[in-house]
Amino acid sequence: MTTSDEAPFVRVCELSKHADRSVTVKGWVYHLRAKGKLVFLVLRDGSGLVQCVGVKGEMDDAQFDEIQRLPMESSIEVRGKVRLDARAPGGAEVGISFVTVLQKADADFPIQPKEHGTGFLMENRHLWLRSRKPWACLRIRDRAIRSIREYFHELGFINIDSPIFTPAACEGTSTLFEVDYFDDKAYLTQSGQLYAEAAAMAFGKVFTFGPTFRAEKSKTRRHLTEFWMVEPEVAFATLDDVMSLAEGLLCRVVGDALTDCKEELKVLERDVTKLECIRAPFPRLSYDEAAKYLQSKGLPFEYGNDFGAPDETAIGEKYDRPVMIHRYPHQVKAFYMKRDPQDPRWALCVDVIAPEGYGEVIGGSQREENLAVLRSRIEEHKLPMDAFQWYLDLRRFGSVPHSGFGMGLERCVAWICGVDHLRECIPFPRMLHKIYP
Ligand code: 4AD
Ligand code: MG
Repeated sequence: MTTSDEAPFVRVCELSKHADRSVTVKGWVYHLRAKGKLVFLVLRDGSGLVQCVGVKGEMDDAQFDEIQRLPMESSIEVRGKVRLDARAPGGAEVGISFVTVLQKADADFPIQPKEHGTGFLMENRHLWLRSRKPWACLRIRDRAIRSIREYFHELGFINIDSPIFTPAACEGTSTLFEVDYFDDKAYLTQSGQLYAEAAAMAFGKVFTFGPTFRAEKSKTRRHLTEFWMVEPEVAFATLDDVMSLAEGLLCRVVGDALTDCKEELKVLERDVTKLECIRAPFPRLSYDEAAKYLQSKGLPFEYGNDFGAPDETAIGEKYDRPVMIHRYPHQVKAFYMKRDPQDPRWALCVDVIAPEGYGEVIGGSQREENLAVLRSRIEEHKLPMDAFQWYLDLRRFGSVPHSGFGMGLERCVAWICGVDHLRECIPFPRMLHKIYP
């Protein structure tokens, strides 16, 4: 079927602008119901759903019979007239005059309108992407990506891309993916931070945004082996400065989702009142205060340790918005973090804990800018000094105070969507022992 000026090709989300006109819609059969002289075909085109109504006698008889027998997910083009109807999803329906079948699907599409386990759906992720819940989560993810870029660009940041093959660890040696690199070894990046630091000395304010990898033997719903992280890095910024930057980022991403993803949040049955209260200022607690709170609640938490997921949940539950915990014991944090000049037991760092049990969404710090101190930290952490020579150069040629953070995209999106598991917030999740499809 050719589309013509009389029946232009229109996406479903644009149909209400074409009232009483003939159009062509193209998509997949989402649902079919026949009733006497009528057939109701719900077509899915990625931008939305629209009901197309066929009436026997008003279209070709053979076609009327054919479309009733179309298996789910068959690909078709429908020509017909748009009728506005407030009751219809999207506010419009199409009266069918002509249908072209592009491919009649096999009859055994594995995902049926009934309850399936998530394991089964994940095995069929390539097809499950077409369902409503993935549609909603991944559109919210797309909106979040756009908000992140807009936020930083509007603040004058430059996007630089950090490499994926790296010669050394950034976030501890226990979670590195090693790969053969010609006659040598390389690692998939755990974080673009060290490269962002170099770029911050060149451009002032930068962010890197891309896939990062952790060989975490962790099966929790909060861990992926491949996840996306946005990492701003700012020359001359202190820990306090980047805490405010992180606060602004989360407010922006949540606010944009509330404004632009109403339909998606409805599909997910998200309680949006929980998101509407995400406003600055976020509560700020020191590790010391947070740890004492956990102890006062009688939780089995040992002072001096990092917080575990149950600890983060207990702290997060106290507030209706993200909470920023700063100044952890330096022993539980990374080599590059500057220690608090007021009290060197603490690292000048921050973790931002999302509400509703979503845990840490952001980790950041002020960086150690002194050459000799940084060198001794690399030694203490038993990291290969050779691989860090370039990083040490940044402290030899015009070192300045600087700070940054990393936000895990899927952690943030899972929280906005209100879904339990990070795997639903990335198109093709990679997890411990899971790499198909
Ligand atoms: O706290 P992390 O390890 O910090 C860094 O990588 C720093 N280099 C960031 C920086 O300062 N530039 O990771 C940052 C964030 C976490 O808060 C979390 O949201 C996310 O990355 N993250 C994960 N997300 C999914 N799966 C995993 N296995 C993750 N590990 C960290
Ligand atoms: Mg962290």
